[in-house]
Amino acid sequence: MVKFPDLPMFAGVNAPSRIEVDIADLEVEGDIPDGIDGAFYRVGADHQFPPRFVNDVPFNGDGMVTMFRFQDGRVGLKSRYVRTDRWKAENAAGRALFGRYRNKWTDDPLVEGMNRNLANTNVLIHAGVLLALREDSPPVAMDPVSLQTIGNWDFHGTLPGPTCSAHCKIDPETGYLVGFGFAAKGDFSRDVVYFEVSPEGRVVHAAWFELPFYEMQHDFGVTRDYVAFPVVPIKGVGDEGLKAGHPHYAWDPNEESFMAVLPRFGRGDQIRWFRNPNQFASHVMNAFNEGSKVHLDLCRSSINLFPFFHEIGQPWSPKGMDVRLTRWTADMASNSDSFESRTLSEFLGEFPRNDDRFQTRPYRHGWMLGFFGTRNALGHVDLKTGQTEVWEAPPTKPVQEPCFIPRGPGATEGDGWIIQAATDGATNLTELNLFEATQIAKGPIAAIRLPVHLKPAYHGSWADGSLVKPSGLV
Ligand SMILES: [Fe+2]
Repeated sequence: MVKFPDLPMFAGVNAPSRIEVDIADLEVEGDIPDGIDGAFYRVGADHQFPPRFVNDVPFNGDGMVTMFRFQDGRVGLKSRYVRTDRWKAENAAGRALFGRYRNKWTDDPLVEGMNRNLANTNVLIHAGVLLALREDSPPVAMDPVSLQTIGNWDFHGTLPGPTCSAHCKIDPETGYLVGFGFAAKGDFSRDVVYFEVSPEGRVVHAAWFELPFYEMQHDFGVTRDYVAFPVVPIKGVGDEGLKAGHPHYAWDPNEESFMAVLPRFGRGDQIRWFRNPNQFASHVMNAFNEGSKVHLDLCRSSINLFPFFHEIGQPWSPKGMDVRLTRWTADMASNSDSFESRTLSEFLGEFPRNDDRFQTRPYRHGWMLGFFGTRNALGHVDLKTGQTEVWEAPPTKPVQEPCFIPRGPGATEGDGWIIQAATDGATNLTELNLFEATQIAKGPIAAIRLPVHLKPAYHGSWADGSLVKPSGLV
């Protein structure tokens, strides 16, 4: 008999959904503009079975991908678990076999040495396949139409290490997928490999470097000419720490934070390290360079934002939390070993996104979530005017990461819509809200109502209809 632990991470709007759905035509309040043709893909952690250990990190659940297909003014829904090696082993056993988040020492001996991939963090189409990504593993490829799992994906044998970031970027000018893997010579190794994947889906360049310390290298920025990494001290506890029962990471408040910059298609020994006092950063909105000046726009906070990766021996507290969109700038032509930091918006927020067609280049518009304290809001940051427009969502409907949909192939930056999922706390049903992207304060122009509860997701992406076609691999 299945019984999930009585914990907030498995209750209410966060309850597991564990269902795979096909609904051809969802109920819509308002009108879906006829011109929208494409798919909104998203993925999150939706435990197939109750965990072996309670009080684990929330994102230790199986990847569940959902696809909202927009076509001819209608929206269809399909959701599927990613059939990872881990999902298949646990499905066959009828119970959880893998233990705590990134802690192989807590696994059932039956799965010793097996791939622990959950494929639950981000999902995007590149070279004809839908890649389900998680930073401690290689990608898992799925069919973009059927969501059938194709299998573990190593870019036709060219992935240079054992891992691939969930926050790979697609260069809109060249079609290259730019990625990296950390822990690239094994768990807790300081090695990182940055790589470029051609539009045909093969790694054509790789460069290796070492971090000053092992840490959670979650996201990065890509410009036309450089890649830039925020390196902050969410440090690993090592195998001894895991065996002692600590989570995989622990915040170190006494360590510096870094911005590392490397030329695109460069060598590892060309990396430059720029430093600042201790601070936290996680998700990147965008990056671009003006000559040798590299700008990395990210959500920066004075304190660690992960309650479950707190400093060892010190309980986590939100005191001093000031997470705001911030521009880190480093000049590759200077002799300075520090980076500049400038706040771009006073809106307290995370999950930053922009119009993906303007990744790697100067841009004006960004969107993010404000979900700290009692806030539950969507923000639109206009970097030209310096203004942030806000839509306050009902406090009972927690909102999820926004995603931009261009109005058409030639639309100017920001001309389009924002799609965003939310869960109605009263009914636990999921809905999707559609906004005019630069007029979010007016509220949604359409709401897509689901007759089911879907576990809230982490990250996702929009794919134009021309990319939503069968892979031919299933
Ligand atoms: Fe992320």
